[in-house]
Amino acid sequence: MKRRNFLKNSTLTTAGMISVPFLASCQENPKQKTAGTDSNKTIKPIAICTWNFMNATAKAWEVLEKGGSSLDAVEQGVMVEEADLNNETVGNGGRPDRDGRVTLDACIMDKDANCGAVLCMENIAHPISVARKVMEETPHVMLVGKGAEQFAYEQGFKKTNLLTEKAKKEWLEWKKDSQYETIINIENHDTIGMLAIDKDGDIAGACTTSGMAYKMAGRVGDSPIIGAGLFVDNEVGGATATGVGEEVVRTVGSFLIVELMRQGKSPQEACEEGVKRIMKKNKDREDFQIGFIAINKKGETGGYCIHPGFTYRTYSEEGHINNPAESFLKG
Ligand code: GLY
Repeated sequence: MKRRNFLKNSTLTTAGMISVPFLASCQENPKQKTAGTDSNKTIKPIAICTWNFMNATAKAWEVLEKGGSSLDAVEQGVMVEEADLNNETVGNGGRPDRDGRVTLDACIMDKDANCGAVLCMENIAHPISVARKVMEETPHVMLVGKGAEQFAYEQGFKKTNLLTEKAKKEWLEWKKDSQYETIINIENHDTIGMLAIDKDGDIAGACTTSGMAYKMAGRVGDSPIIGAGLFVDNEVGGATATGVGEEVVRTVGSFLIVELMRQGKSPQEACEEGVKRIMKKNKDREDFQIGFIAINKKGETGGYCIHPGFTYRTYSEEGHINNPAESFLKG
């Protein structure tokens, strides 16, 4: 079987089920994903995302494999989750705020530090694509709320009801006592943040979410904030985050991780330091989850979180792998 077909066929295989020796050896030490050389000139196309969003990384890899750009790969990759009505933490079908409104946040960043974001936007199924339009078609970086929605219509996006019957029923149930609490590892996923390197060695990133379930009206977390939920520097690497956005914003987490890599830390070391900075400011708190992932120019990856349970997907020539991240707290 040709390598390309083999990789395609392994897409729907969970990591633990892959039996081919070279993939199995990748599994043995999932933290070690080197490009196979120390040369910065080596290009290793790869897509990486928060959580086990395997269909998203599969889509991104399909784009990369055809020679597409990292920007197209991350946009099309995260769109898979935005469209999934069963995913109640991203895009269409996301859980609403406490007033029953589904408001979406997303941002995107390319190899030239161009970026775009939409915050608290209703009625549009693919906020990541609107964020890209903000980046490409306006002189601005962020559009918010009604302005973002109006801009989306002007760009040809269709009005869509994002509140599914299931999400509505759960929200009405929640309203009975309106207990507002964060849930650690909600359904074992949350925000999707994705990073990719293409055949030219260029890095791009995307991040998209429906935010915290039953949040206050108008609440925005880290995900659409460049530097917090996502940051890319094509000379160094990229990072993205999932979890309780307020804490990521307070440390400008993704920017911090990229800067730590610039200073010589590996993606893994940088993610660990990012989580430690957050925990230093939250000495008495263990009631929230954060997960960071990062990638450097060589295609090396890392991931780290507060509580056990966070995983991240990678798709490269080494295979399509669900990587368990090490955690600050041990469970
Ligand atoms: N990380 C998603 C949020 O806090 O909204």
